[in-house]
Amino acid sequence: MGNLYVFDHPMIQHKLTYIRDKTTGTKEFRELVDEVAMLMAYEITRDLPLQEVEVETPVTRCKSKMIAGKKLGLVPILRAGIGMVDGVLKLIPAAKVGHVGLYRDPDTLEPVEYYVKLPSDISERDLIVIDPMLATGGSAVAAITALKNRGARSMKLMCLIAAPEGIQKVQEMHPDIDIFVAAVDEMLNDHGYIVPGLGDAGDRLFGTK
Ligand code: PRP
Ligand code: URA
Repeated sequence: MGNLYVFDHPMIQHKLTYIRDKTTGTKEFRELVDEVAMLMAYEITRDLPLQEVEVETPVTRCKSKMIAGKKLGLVPILRAGIGMVDGVLKLIPAAKVGHVGLYRDPDTLEPVEYYVKLPSDISERDLIVIDPMLATGGSAVAAITALKNRGARSMKLMCLIAAPEGIQKVQEMHPDIDIFVAAVDEMLNDHGYIVPGLGDAGDRLFGTK
């Protein structure tokens, strides 16, 4: 079964509190999600392999380390995943970005796929699937399935807030996937929203309602 990592870094937790706060407006919400995404990317890239290179400092030549040419890819789940992409790209600017468009049917809560556009070489890339909310898990499971069906072999899932139900579903359906979150909340309500959560991530990011 995939591992669950909860990022308890104080900066992430502090910013997440503002993100949850219903009085935080769209502009600030967007900025905070961007910042937390960057901090999470810092943690999530901890295991990237390094290679030794030579560098000439103003003083002498020495051996030093650089990330070993790993091919990375980001796959935000539309819409809300878009809000986390720029933050991750600040750390990994060369990553390619694919998109999976899914929305949750409000009645059945089942994901409906409406768009998939991916880098042609996804089977060679280590992908980070990005979505702020892991609620029932339906969207994440569908996105990961869509990626596997198109050849993806290596993926991590990165979310701001997860419900236990969503974590369990991803672990059941895709036991090869590690999940990285900033918080695991209590439960889902009758409408499939995470409690306490942050509300509707897409609406809060884009100012829709
Ligand atoms: C939200 C969120 C996830 C999904 C999570 O998207 O961004 O993709 O719900 O719920 P689940 O785990 O129960 O599938 P939504 O369907 O609201 O679409 P949007 O991002 O376009 O607003
Ligand atoms: N999608 C959201 O945007 N928020 C939730 O709490 C659950 C699903």
